[in-house]
Formats: sequence, C-alpha cells, structure tokens
Amino acid sequence: MPPHQPHVVLGVCGGIAAYKAVDVCRRLVDVGVYVAPVLTDEATRFVGEATFSALASEPVQRSLFDEASPIPHTRLGQGADLVLVVPATAHFLARYAAGMADDLLCATLLATRAPVLVCPAMHTEMWEHPAVSDNLALLVRRGVLVVAPEEGRLAGGDSGAGRLADPDTIVARALDVLGATGSVVGPGRGDLAGRLVVVSAGGTREPLDPVRFLTNRSSGKQGHALAEAAARRGAKVTLVTASALAVSPGIDVVPVASAADMEAALRAVAPRADVIVMAAAVADFRPKAPAAHKLVKADGVPDLVLEPTPDILSGLAAERRPGQVLVGFAAETDDPIGRGRRKLAQKGVDLLVVNDVTAPGAGFDHDTNAVTILDADGGATAVPLMSKSAVADAVFDRVTAQLDPERNSP
Ligand code: CTP
Repeated sequence: MPPHQPHVVLGVCGGIAAYKAVDVCRRLVDVGVYVAPVLTDEATRFVGEATFSALASEPVQRSLFDEASPIPHTRLGQGADLVLVVPATAHFLARYAAGMADDLLCATLLATRAPVLVCPAMHTEMWEHPAVSDNLALLVRRGVLVVAPEEGRLAGGDSGAGRLADPDTIVARALDVLGATGSVVGPGRGDLAGRLVVVSAGGTREPLDPVRFLTNRSSGKQGHALAEAAARRGAKVTLVTASALAVSPGIDVVPVASAADMEAALRAVAPRADVIVMAAAVADFRPKAPAAHKLVKADGVPDLVLEPTPDILSGLAAERRPGQVLVGFAAETDDPIGRGRRKLAQKGVDLLVVNDVTAPGAGFDHDTNAVTILDADGGATAVPLMSKSAVADAVFDRVTAQLDPERNSP
C-alpha cells in the first residue's frame, strides 16, 4: 500500500495575487499532494472557482452551508496535514487573529490542529501598517508559519514590499512543513526506505546543429510523477531528466539533453540502484554528424543522415546487478499489449508499463494516464485512467512486490 497522501487545505483570499495560488495548487498536485481548495467570496472576484476545481484534488468549497455534510470545516480541518493560505490579505489576517469563524476558511482554521502557513500579499502601506504587523505577530506567537512577502512590482504599477512570495518558494516551504510532520514520507520511511530508485524522464533532444534538434512529444510528467512517488515512499531518488518540470527538494536531479547524455548519466548510477524505471522517451535515431555551425538557407537543404541511438534499457538489463528491478515503458498506438509483451522479452526487463497513447486522457502531456503493467511471468495489471501520480503509485506497488526484502542498495 502506498503511504498516506499528504492533505493540504489551500485557502485563497481576495487579493490580486490570488492568480498565483493557481500555480501553487497545480504544483502541489503535481508532486502528489491532495489539495482541497477553499475560496473566500472575495477570492472569487479575482479567480474562478472552475480553475481550482479543475486543478485541485476535489471541488472548491466556499461556504459553511453548501456541502452535503453539515460540518465541512471540521472535515477539512481535521483531515488536513497543512492549511496553506495564498494570498493572506490584511482583512484575512485580522479575522484569523481575532478568532472569527464567519466563513469556511476561518472556521476551518479554528477546527484544525495541523500546521498553518500563511503567505501575505498586499500594498506596502498596508503591509507596514501596525495593525497588520500586530495581527501577524500575534499569529506567529500562536505558532502560525509565515512566508514573508517580497519586494517588487505591485498592482497599479507601484513597487515595494508586499508582493506575494514566489510560488516556488511557497511550494518548497509547504513541502518542508509536510516533511517535518512526517506527512511526506521522504528518505528513511515508507516501503521504499533504504532503496535507491533511479528514474529517467522526458524526451531526449538530438542536435542537428547548435540551434536545432530532433525530439518527441514526451513532457516528462509521468517520469517526474514516478520520481516524486518513490521519494514519498521513502526511497533515495535520482531523476535523470530531459524535462524542465519542477522537482521536489531531496530528489537528486541530473539534467540531460541527448540519448548519449542520458545513457552516460544512467550508467554512472545504475550499479548502485535497486530499481531503475526507464520512463524517458529516448530518441531511436539521431543525426549522424551534427553540424558544428548553424545550418543556413544559403547552404541549401541539408542531407539529413540518421544513425541509431544506443538502446539504453537493453544495455542496463545486460549489466544489471542481482536483485535489481528494471521497469520499461512503451508508448504504443497499435496492438499495445502484444507489442508490450514482445518488448518486455526483448529488453529483458521485469515490468513493462504499456501506454496506449491514442486512449482519451492518456499519454503525452496529459495530467492523467491509463496503463497496463505487464510482468515477466505473463501477468497484466490494468490501471484505469487516473492522475499520473496515482499511476506512479500503481507501478511502485508492483515494483515493491518484486524487491528482495533482504537486499538494499550498496
Ligand atoms: N529505450 C531506451 N533506449 C532507446 C529507446 C528506448 O532505453 N534508445 C527505452 C525506453 O525508455 C522505454 C523502452 O525502452 O522504457 C521502450 O521504448 P520504446 O521507444 O517503446 O521502444 P523501442 O526500443 O524504441 O522500440 P520500437 O521502436 O519498436 O517501438
């Protein structure tokens, strides 16, 4: 069983920075956090409920009175591992400091024992007003955590202190708080504790000249979700990636571009790995002789001669150490299961995750996926359409069943 998925109540108040809460919501979901959005009435003047309902893990809640359950604030408050408020307005800080419970967000904050992280954003004059400073100081004395605003451009063209902290900073701090409470499992805990899991992700880029390359439609989302899931389950994770997607702190990232870079990076770490998941879309062909200088029209149409890239996964399988579990991926459009079975045998892997990329909602660049996990004994596990994070957990459920309980990474 995967470990507990961390739950965050994301409170959004009515300030111009509310649009940045959309990014925070999405990034938390991307790294496997369950996000329950609570919007104040004023927030909906700045951002649409539909945006959050589409991106978060459950629909937006706005009122103490419209849920089927008569006490939504206690459900939200008791189930939270963290309540995060982005942006926290002066009005919100005053009501929270006064202990008011006149809307769902403030009532949830009174009904929770989880850590609370507030991210204020307002104009400089308001931020520096003693009423705001006093309210914030009172909240800090009560244990509320704060991501302070930054200096920068504010609404209306002004500049100064009060701009919402960068979403990267907010997400990193939220994950730190979750890690500290044990909600994000992290190294040393969970069913992959003590294991080194290596994941490859993204589509490789094969240069034609210094400004052009051949690549494919892989976004890297499934590979990154696998790395995040392995980290949540306690593994030490190395992610060899050709994608620029954000990665949680604690995961070792090796950025690569070409198949040759990816092969070198994987071969360096493979001898120590307990599990290698090859989710990258490695180019099968590359330009044989990439030009050292930019190709220009005046030179005429270039003769594009391609050569095969190394089959990285087959190479890793040939040199694998005893007990190491190897997982391949296959994006297919025709006869996915038949082709997947043949590929599993040819590549010599333990598990092959087959993706029918023509299925609605599955494959390239979607946030969801549907796969079939084939094993070397002829077994097949169908994983219906779900988030890429949940698919990643389904893959590791199969991986952990194959790991030798006695053996850990050297
Ligand atoms: N793979 C690899 N090195 C390559 C090509 C693919 O390691 N040069 C890995 C992929 O990361 C994936 C698995 O092999 O885990 C299957 O990739 P896929 O592209 O589906 O298979 P191919 O070997 O390219 O076979 P085909 O062209 O017949 O689909």
